[in-house]
Amino acid sequence: MKKYISIYDIENVTETIQEALILKKNPYNYSDIGKNKTLVMLFFNASLRTRLSTEKAAKNLGMQVTTLNVTDAWNLEFENGITMNLNAAEHIKEAALVISQYADIIAVRAFPSLIDKEKDESEYVIQSFVKYATVPVINMESATKHPLQALADAITIEELKTIEKPKVVLSWAPHPKALPQAVANSFVKMMQKLNVDFSITHPKGYELNSEITKNIPICYNQKEALKNADFVYVKNWSSYESYGKVLHQDSNWMITKEKLNTAKFMHCLPVRRNVVVEDAVLDGEHSVVIQQAHNRVFSAQIILKKVLENL
Ligand code: CP
Repeated sequence: MKKYISIYDIENVTETIQEALILKKNPYNYSDIGKNKTLVMLFFNASLRTRLSTEKAAKNLGMQVTTLNVTDAWNLEFENGITMNLNAAEHIKEAALVISQYADIIAVRAFPSLIDKEKDESEYVIQSFVKYATVPVINMESATKHPLQALADAITIEELKTIEKPKVVLSWAPHPKALPQAVANSFVKMMQKLNVDFSITHPKGYELNSEITKNIPICYNQKEALKNADFVYVKNWSSYESYGKVLHQDSNWMITKEKLNTAKFMHCLPVRRNVVVEDAVLDGEHSVVIQQAHNRVFSAQIILKKVLENL
């Protein structure tokens, strides 16, 4: 694997999930593959799971890990041909090349502005690293994608499914802040690759990018959509059409124990209790969010292994 920017960089999703599950059983089987190799992780935004799970994954493979919170470094300029007489002290061209001197793999987290849709969709931060770095780049959540999360989600569904083709529902939930569509986008793309009966439910106005949701059934009635679900993946996202706007925070869309019934509750975390989901669900027997978070290690580990094998 040359890079991991989108789930489409995985050649065979089904095989990769199985490989990740084998790694989960024996996480130190390839503890020499990353010897004398360094992963540099760059965070433009906060993280708990991605940072710790990716570091753990790299160390399981014998890699060294260096982490930089980019807010502690020089402000970067991403535009070409610009006169840099404002805040940015360093251009991405030098920065990416310099980081490449210290890294065998660069991993980047950079959220969208949620103000300028075109700019966000250009994925200029992560794509600039792909363009100017001389080593492979891994996406730790970009403006429109969270492919490591989506792979962990797929691994979790594979582990827990009790029927060949489970019913999986992605449900929007309320949130006080404007959040990106990245997790939902990558989850939708991943579900299109799996043998699942998949649908999406959200209030009107919260449609995701139709190029991503394509032929997937969308139901505006959450109760109807959740009927007989095996897995309910809950996530807030801000409006795509009215880009980055919180149209409303209708608490009727919060996930309750009653609505969930016997389905497994999935969420990428962090999650706001009693806003997105009630305590009884998170503390109940059907929540699989900790297992999902655990699987972030093996999602990152299988991707790093594939990238290391190609160095
Ligand atoms: N799910 C996830 O990406 O968590 P963090 O934002 O804490 O990394």
